[in-house]
Amino acid sequence: MKVAIMGYGTIGSGVAKVLDVNRDVIADHLGDTLDLKYILDLRDFPDDPHKDLFVKDYMDIVNDSEVQIVVETMGGVNPAYEFVKAMLLAGKSVTTSNKALVADKGVELTKIAAEHNCNFVFEAAVGGGIPIIRTINACLTADIIEEVSAICNGTTNYMLTKMEKNGSDYADVLKEAQDLGYAEKDPTADVEGFDSCRKIAILTSLITGHQVKFEKIPTQGISKISAVDFKYAKAMNRSIKLLARAVKTGDTYTCRVAPFMLPEDHTLFHVSGVMNAVYIRGNMLGDSMYYGAGAGSLPTASAVAADMVFLARNTNRVVPVKWDEQELAIGDNMAETYRFFVRTGASQSEIEEVFGNVEYANLDLDDETGFVTEMISESSFEQLSKSLGEIKSYIRLA
Ligand code: HSE
Repeated sequence: MKVAIMGYGTIGSGVAKVLDVNRDVIADHLGDTLDLKYILDLRDFPDDPHKDLFVKDYMDIVNDSEVQIVVETMGGVNPAYEFVKAMLLAGKSVTTSNKALVADKGVELTKIAAEHNCNFVFEAAVGGGIPIIRTINACLTADIIEEVSAICNGTTNYMLTKMEKNGSDYADVLKEAQDLGYAEKDPTADVEGFDSCRKIAILTSLITGHQVKFEKIPTQGISKISAVDFKYAKAMNRSIKLLARAVKTGDTYTCRVAPFMLPEDHTLFHVSGVMNAVYIRGNMLGDSMYYGAGAGSLPTASAVAADMVFLARNTNRVVPVKWDEQELAIGDNMAETYRFFVRTGASQSEIEEVFGNVEYANLDLDDETGFVTEMISESSFEQLSKSLGEIKSYIRLA
């Protein structure tokens, strides 16, 4: 079976490697080989072993009826959207690792694929190598999912782990993550939580079958987390993790991306470094967790290549996916309840006057006090914080 790759960066070149190195095992599973016929990239790779396969015009792939499966690993919404759409309209199945594309255009591309007797799949778009999309689509279909809580950004998890273990400052670990190639030169999408936001939007869409607009998910990243926050966390036997959550509330879901303080017995407490994990609670299943390499060339490419096998097995057959264009009215975020850890310059009597019963987590710092509120709603917290004034920072407790 002839296949093509669009985008020969970290992931795309990883896919070519997986197809080469694991050619036999893939052929064993499939009963056929996956033969790379084209690689689309504007750059030249004169020393690459696949140098003869490169093309610069995506229409070369569209117009070749021999190619049945196309990989999109270009990243970003444009021009990936145009290219992928053209492949699907030509009846070629597509797999992508591109969460920005899936969160924005996934429902439309899934529909176009079904209308053209092919499939659009995206296992690698969430959790890298962790098989979470097919798990939701195929294995968790008999449950009402009550909660998804995910550490689904390797860069920020690496940074938070370093801050925790070494007492380092945010700016230092960001530089280190950039030097190691985890964080991009412009790290905004990772550190401000936008990448996690798109991933939880995709997971919530698949769980509910409706379109979840990522723009409507309240999203806070880790850029304001400091070494002092970790000192407080340590004093409270807690860790700080960037969580992307979807929690069933009534007949919808409330979604949020934010740093949370986790107790030691929390399922996600020990997920460290670049690793990802997705915790899912089903009403029949109970607790389950999916853990693994959430980023990186070969883990992500492994998921893409497995998608290719899936697509090859389902040639000329549309595999149903529960995802329609009706927008999910996500739950009222201001009604969510949490205990909040707060750092303030206010005095203890001022704190208690406003927040009533609190638990102190004092580090004996001259200019501030740390405390944890009782369980209160987001809207109460917002009002009470305004009354107190001097809030330096806050983190929700999980
Ligand atoms: N920037 C992402 C991360 C890549 O760090 O997790 C994988 O989606």
